This record gives sequence, structure tokens and C-alpha cells, in this order.
Amino acid sequence: MGQVRVQSATNAERRVVAAIRGRPASDGAGVKLTRVIGQPALPDLDPFLMLDEFGSDKGADYIGGFPDHPHRGFETVTYMLAGRMRHGDNQGNVGLLRPGSVQWMTAGRGIIHSEMPEQEEGLMQGFQLWVNLPAKDKMTKPRYQDIDPENVPVVERADGTKVKVLVGSFDGVRGPVTDVATDPLYLDITLPAGVKAGVAVAAEHNAFAYVFEGTARIGAEAQLVERGQLAVLSLGDGVTVEGGPKGGRLILVAGRPLREPVAKYGPFVMNTPAEIHQAIADYQAGKFV
Ligand code: FE2
Repeated sequence: MGQVRVQSATNAERRVVAAIRGRPASDGAGVKLTRVIGQPALPDLDPFLMLDEFGSDKGADYIGGFPDHPHRGFETVTYMLAGRMRHGDNQGNVGLLRPGSVQWMTAGRGIIHSEMPEQEEGLMQGFQLWVNLPAKDKMTKPRYQDIDPENVPVVERADGTKVKVLVGSFDGVRGPVTDVATDPLYLDITLPAGVKAGVAVAAEHNAFAYVFEGTARIGAEAQLVERGQLAVLSLGDGVTVEGGPKGGRLILVAGRPLREPVAKYGPFVMNTPAEIHQAIADYQAGKFV
């Protein structure tokens, strides 16, 4: 996972081992975004291969969208905060992502899809996370889990804490996304100023928190993490998050590391270079159907 070390006692409160800022990038047909995982400062965080934050109220920054492109060997997860995005693929699946929608797409053996804005102006904001698949599942049948905003449960506490559970569980409430190989946790946590919440995390899973509004204090040392910073967490069975002076909002994501070789080429993520060559050959031969 690059140069950041996460090893520590596993029956302990997690702490922040690195706070990393993303860097500007462009993908698809010129969509401006911030690449947080998948850049030199954090090449990956097994099983997570990429995290992009997109957020702009200027249509020119996103209007080109992501026209038809292939994927093989991993999963793409889109979480919309604002705006509308239509997706379609070469198998006839179509859907509309709205604010609060989650799409967990398992590309498996291969899919060709597009993700295009359904608006020409106004705020478009959200995240795309790439989650690796274990070798045994890389050639599985493609699958979508399209979750409408109404079906994402929200845990609201009297102290003002609000936690949306996309996958995994918080306070005994389970998220709607199921049967993911890396047994992930994905929470969207809003914290008023000075309010703390303890979050249970599987002790051996890699985890990060990305603050996208305000600030938050995170981990055993209550490190202040600013908007736009990703906190890589040490191992441990839980983490405490606390709203900063003006409150904060963050995503907290964890998953079982695969510890398998990674061979990456653009939208293909396999275990060996030979498998990458096969993916390119299959795509060019029209076998992603
Ligand atoms: Fe895609």
C-alpha cells in the first residue's frame, strides 16, 4: 500500500498515521476531480485502489461525463451527494443516480458502461471509490447494487450525530449493500462541534476517514483533520471521531486487505501482466458482453 504503514496492536483504538490531501485530476471526457487514493502520496490502501471526490457547480467541469469505457477485475462505488448522473451499460442496464444514491458495481469479468450528467448546471458532488476483488472473484459475473437514497438507513442520535450506513453496520443498523468480497464498511458521518462518536471497525481491516465538510478530530490522539484531508488509520477494533470547532462531515471506509499482487492498466485491475494483456485482448475482440 505504498509508504504509509498501518501496523499496530489490533485490540486498540485506531489513530491517524498519515493525513493526505488529494490532487487535482481529470478523467472521463474532461471531468475535473480530486484524486485522493491512487496518486503518488497514497497509491493505494488495500483493498482500495482509488478514491475520487468530485464537486463543482460549474457545468463545464463535469458536462463531458464519462462516456462508454470498460472495467474488469474490481468494483466501482459511486456515492452521490448532489446532482444527477445517468448510467447505462452494454447489457441494457440503465439507472439514475440522485443525491444520496449509492451504486455498487461489480465489474467482474467485464463491463462497458457510461456515467453522464443529467444536468447542465448546478452542483454535482460525490465520491467514486474503486474496491479490488480477490483473484477468485475477478472473473465473476458483473453485478449492480443500485440503492435509492430512501433505502440508505440513517442513525440519528440525540446529540446531533447523523450516520448514513451504506455498507457494513453502525449501532446495529446494517447498510443495504450486501455480499461484497472485502466485507467493507462505508459510513457518511455528520458530527456537530465537540460531539464524539465511537465507531466499531473490524480489527484487521484497513480504514480511512476523508473529511469533506468542516473539520474533525480523529483517533486515539484526537488529531485535527481538515476538509480535503484523508486520514489513514492504524489497525484496531474501533475509532473515535469528533466534530471540530464548527462541526464536520466525513466518510469512514474500511475493508479486508487482499494482500495479492496487483497489476493495473487504466480500467483493468488484475493480478498479473498476462491477465492485463488478456483483458485488453478480450475488450478489443468485443468479448465484454
Ligand atoms: Fe466507470
